[in-house]
Amino acid sequence: MTKRVVLAYSGGLDTSVAVRWMIEEWGVEVVTVACDVGQGGDFDAICERARAAGAVEAVVADVRAEFANDFVVPALRANALYEGRYPLVSALSRPVIVRHLVEAARTYGATAVAHGCTGKGNDQVRFEVGIRALAPDLEVLAPVRVWGMTREDCIEYAATHAIPITSSKDKLYSIDDNLWGRAIECGEMEDPWAEPPVGVWSLTVPTATEPTEVTIAFDRGVPVAMDGVAMELHELVAQMNTLVGSYGWGRLDMVENRRVGIKSRETYEAPGALALIAAHQDLESLCLERDLAHEKQRLELRYADLVYDGQWFSPLKEALDAFIESSQEFVTGEVRLRLAPGTCHVTGRRSPYSLYDYGLATYDAADSFNHADAEGFVRLWGLGIQTWAANQATQRGD
Ligand code: ARG
Repeated sequence: MTKRVVLAYSGGLDTSVAVRWMIEEWGVEVVTVACDVGQGGDFDAICERARAAGAVEAVVADVRAEFANDFVVPALRANALYEGRYPLVSALSRPVIVRHLVEAARTYGATAVAHGCTGKGNDQVRFEVGIRALAPDLEVLAPVRVWGMTREDCIEYAATHAIPITSSKDKLYSIDDNLWGRAIECGEMEDPWAEPPVGVWSLTVPTATEPTEVTIAFDRGVPVAMDGVAMELHELVAQMNTLVGSYGWGRLDMVENRRVGIKSRETYEAPGALALIAAHQDLESLCLERDLAHEKQRLELRYADLVYDGQWFSPLKEALDAFIESSQEFVTGEVRLRLAPGTCHVTGRRSPYSLYDYGLATYDAADSFNHADAEGFVRLWGLGIQTWAANQATQRGD
């Protein structure tokens, strides 16, 4: 029986060429899997292209709700920002795609899974480690890493094999899109000093001129409504992208440390993700007890590293998910954001579980704080330092 391979298929040049190349060079049958993670695009055309390239089956999976609920939710609850900035747009979509690749491998009797990543990026790591975690028996293939073709070679290969691709020779950027945002790399931005050209932005083109406010309601750390209108998370994120993006806010321009040891200049647009994380962090400031909040902040960085490094399906990530899930029990309430051209910031928060106590916080007549308690507390708090100051600190330099 001919060996079958399931290929993670985007419909772009590399993965389209990969379909035919694997058939020709390795003598395999190829089943393509294209996942809709909210990137937009014509999936009928993508299927046709896969078949034209020689795929025996072209599967399309609408995974937007699954992506939002099973991947975006844990990341948002974890306020996951790689290197304190990047909301893990691409890193989050790989594990949901992996799930569907493995499922298709089982359905169509494939013994291998392939991806179209190069050897220089993070995405190969995420696909391969993810596949090994979910299906240790499947072989992983990376045609693009071994074929040694340039972009021009690929365009020529597509032309000789009548694969209908839309790419032209002067494609400028490498773009990866999904519900949680958009990553734009390469072109003139490979010089970290060069300003990103205006044309790279599409989710954050400023069009709104009048300031506005939007209120996000959270239920146990999950956004559930926008201005009182309940909606599915994937809908809510899409609407936030449109609204916040129209104020030209939500761009990142950074030099990032890839898992494979390369520093890379990256630009991102993630207006919805960044606004929702800011709102969620703010609600936590109201609802989380101090030690829990501080410990969570330490673990958030670790969490982001794990997701970035392709360890979504891993025992440590699972254990951290359990911690984060538990931390969200009372993260319920509302956050109001103010939007104006170029800015987005929180202007109010409230919760039925708020730990903010007006009687303790106020300086006016309603003050219920026992001031006498402070005196002894502060004296003991500083006692060790006072003892050190009276003995060692005074003897320095003798
Ligand atoms: N640097 C980002 C990451 O590693 C974005 C990768 C985007 N991928 C792409 N094919 N353009 O998550």
